[in-house]
Amino acid sequence: MQALLLSLALTSSAFAFHEHGQSRKSLSFGPILPHAQFIVNPSSSSLAATTTPGAVDADPRQVAIAFVNELNAQFAQDGHSYWVREDSYTDPASGVSHFYFRQLVRDFEVADGNINVNVYNGKVISYGDSFYKGDAFIFDFDDLSYKHSTSQHTYCDQLGQRYFELQALSFNNGQQTPLVGAQINQMTQIIDANCDTSRHRAQLEKIKAAHKDELRSPAHAALLFMVSASPDASLSREITDNFQTYLSQISVQNEVHFAGSDASGSQFSRSVDYLHNVPGTVSPVKARLAYVQSPTEDGKTELVLVWKLEVEMHNNWYEAAVSLVDPTVIVEVVDWASDAGATPERLGGTYNVWKWGLNDPECGERSIENSPYDEVASPLGWHSLPASKDAKSRNRRYASDHILNVTQTYGNNVYAHEDWEGRNEWLDNYRPDGGKNLNFNYTYDLKTKNGSWADPKSYINTTITQLFYTTNMVHDLYYRYGFDELSGNFQQYNFGKGGKENDAVIANAQDGSGYNNANFMTPPDGQNGRMRMYTWNVHGFPYRDGDLEAGIVIHELSHGLSTRLTGGPADSGCLGWGESGGMGEGWGDFLATTIRSTEDYSDYSMGSWAANETDGIRNYVYSTNMTINPSTYHTLDKGGYWGVHAIGEVWAEILWVVSNKLIKKHGWSSTLFPPVPDANGKVPEDNDFYRPATYDATGKPKRLVPKHGNSLIVQLVLDGMKLQPCRPGFFEARDAIIQADDILTGGENFCLLWKAFAKRGLGVDATVTGRTPWGGGVRKDGHAVPHQCTSDKH
Ligand SMILES: *[C@@H]1O[C@H](CO)[C@@H](O)[C@H](O)[C@H]1NC(C)=O
Ligand SMILES: *[C@@H]1O[C@H](CO)[C@@H](O)[C@H](O)[C@H]1NC(C)=O
Ligand SMILES: *[C@@H]1O[C@H](CO)[C@@H](O)[C@H](O)[C@H]1NC(C)=O
Ligand SMILES: *[C@@H]1O[C@H](CO)[C@@H](O)[C@H](O)[C@H]1NC(C)=O
Ligand SMILES: *[C@@H]1O[C@H](CO)[C@@H](O)[C@H](O)[C@H]1NC(C)=O
Ligand SMILES: *[C@@H]1O[C@H](CO)[C@@H](O)[C@H](O)[C@H]1NC(C)=O
Repeated sequence: MQALLLSLALTSSAFAFHEHGQSRKSLSFGPILPHAQFIVNPSSSSLAATTTPGAVDADPRQVAIAFVNELNAQFAQDGHSYWVREDSYTDPASGVSHFYFRQLVRDFEVADGNINVNVYNGKVISYGDSFYKGDAFIFDFDDLSYKHSTSQHTYCDQLGQRYFELQALSFNNGQQTPLVGAQINQMTQIIDANCDTSRHRAQLEKIKAAHKDELRSPAHAALLFMVSASPDASLSREITDNFQTYLSQISVQNEVHFAGSDASGSQFSRSVDYLHNVPGTVSPVKARLAYVQSPTEDGKTELVLVWKLEVEMHNNWYEAAVSLVDPTVIVEVVDWASDAGATPERLGGTYNVWKWGLNDPECGERSIENSPYDEVASPLGWHSLPASKDAKSRNRRYASDHILNVTQTYGNNVYAHEDWEGRNEWLDNYRPDGGKNLNFNYTYDLKTKNGSWADPKSYINTTITQLFYTTNMVHDLYYRYGFDELSGNFQQYNFGKGGKENDAVIANAQDGSGYNNANFMTPPDGQNGRMRMYTWNVHGFPYRDGDLEAGIVIHELSHGLSTRLTGGPADSGCLGWGESGGMGEGWGDFLATTIRSTEDYSDYSMGSWAANETDGIRNYVYSTNMTINPSTYHTLDKGGYWGVHAIGEVWAEILWVVSNKLIKKHGWSSTLFPPVPDANGKVPEDNDFYRPATYDATGKPKRLVPKHGNSLIVQLVLDGMKLQPCRPGFFEARDAIIQADDILTGGENFCLLWKAFAKRGLGVDATVTGRTPWGGGVRKDGHAVPHQCTSDKH
């Protein structure tokens, strides 16, 4: 079986979904926890009685802690505890507090034991819970016979079995149906990307035997992980052949990090090892001991002690769980890389670009845009930042409060530059310089004088200017809808508004490490996000530059948005695989489509300019017309829907349908940017963006509500991301959006939203069973809506 599978070409894709995909190996799997749940409006039983003494102004932190303590009676037992994560925050716009609890069992972190509690007006309005519910047993470090109930091996075995069933089916029928063919094709990609470790099996067993007594060091775990994770087969072989040599080169440095406060209120710290010189990596590997949960056959979960590793490589950034007792076993792995990113004086800039809203060069001409930054989102403009926060100036001597005025394409939100060599180094890469007037005005000629296609390098100045512009616009737009410093956005400097700093987006234009794609790596808050944009050569030569297609850039940047907002800014492992990984793709397509859409309704495709294909690179164009795009929840069961991009396409389509229902009811806003408040922080009353201000009983102004359907859906989608639990499925994400509307508008769109979701199969009676980390399972479309929505009045 392996020989057959391995002989197939590596075709895993990134932004692109079918044939254009460029090969990037990406491991991605882990358990679907059977007990994980998301509950909206938890019933007011004993829980509410103890946690809501009726006080709207009760300390939300105390409310959340009391709630979690009551929810988990097991804390009364020995060995169970938690800590309140430091990245918890109260959203200043919505007033909702988001608390993130991480579980502790016998003082070990349970890395996938999460409770997110959303508190509003002194009450818990929803929560997600994936805490381990079993006994706090003492892990038997010496039980070498321990068998992992789920791991890479069990997932790959299952997948291999299904693969052969399907093969047999298609051979028996004498001919392959297109659907079965598509499914086999996708499974092949997943197998290639995730299951080729077995070629090293024999060597790994040998190393295991030879190193029996010291196997539990983090260096062993990291090195063995690299054997599986390296996309370079010769490096894997090098490591297995010279294991001892590589091991002796690794040096370990330990640091203790403050993590938050635990159940008893005392401070909780985590010990992290930094492993230097691990081959195939580009920065020290971080390792910490933790538990992860593993589903067993009886429907429960057990705890497995692992090394949690953070491994930054050239094309991947992994968070992996490697078994402590048998470090040749990878229990779960998430790739943070996702494919297909007193007001001081500030400086404007002048950019010759395809203006915001124009998706690509075929949608219109370039124009000169003056000072396009949003003053609220970018108080220093796009080109200034404190010298102490500039990655390029760190070693220079400036006063600590010195504000640098940069004349190149970088600033507080993004460092945009060429990366033709496709390297990881970026600080000193070429950036155009707009001079003291910040005038970025360059020529763009798609053809050379003699009529041949121009090498994209010849218009690199235009490309970088466009990438800098689009990335900053996305930063500013998402900021205005609440992706701010506290909730983990990407900025070098946070203006004292909370969250972690030094994490602007690194944007590589015309990145030489690939073609026909794009990708984004999202580490936790406080570390730079990294976006790589490629040129497209589907006609055999590079002739279109993905940097110039705003939809692709927006898709990539939206990975950063959804990853940081789901499950809290410090957890980048919440959208790894399956439905949650798919939605990670879908939000990007949906937001890109919403940003380009116009008042007159139209269907839209993704990537059609870069790929030079009318219908783009997804299976269907986004359309409210069921004939043109028939995707429903049940579509995920079909052949060909085993990858995150296909799953995401269905999610984006459902959101597109929901969005257009809202537009039908509330109309369409010509801009998605809210008006800038005046010096007193007041939005001008005569704006056409928000509904008229309203006030609560105490005379306090309530949160402003976007008036139109397209702006409202953007707000609900972002608010929903903050409410939903780590590793959400479609149901949880839907519920979170409906709850977001409840908080923002008092639930006036409750029935509209349910009806729209139900139209595409996500009604109250939709069901799913048997999901795997990648896809599959059995889904039933549900078209029913809550009983209060069944009358025609709504
Ligand atoms: C940066 O520009 C601002 C606005 O023009 C100006 O007030 C400030 O002095 C400049 N800073 C430096 C270091 O040039
Ligand atoms: C931009 O460049 C074009 C052609 O080089 C020139 O005609 C135009 O005046 C310039 N605009 C600005 C604002 O510099
Ligand atoms: C056209 O010009 C480009 C560079 O401007 C050159 O590389 C190419 O060889 C030329 N082609 C022909 C047919 O002359
Ligand atoms: C980019 O702009 C700079 C400065 O205007 C110029 O020197 C350089 O030749 C340009 N690069 C290309 C490839 O046109
Ligand atoms: C893009 O596609 C059109 C239509 O198929 C074709 O005429 C054109 O030559 C293509 N562009 C390139 C650069 O190949
Ligand atoms: C939906 O699309 C089909 C196929 O293009 C078309 O025949 C039909 O009229 C469309 N329906 C609506 C309501 O526009």
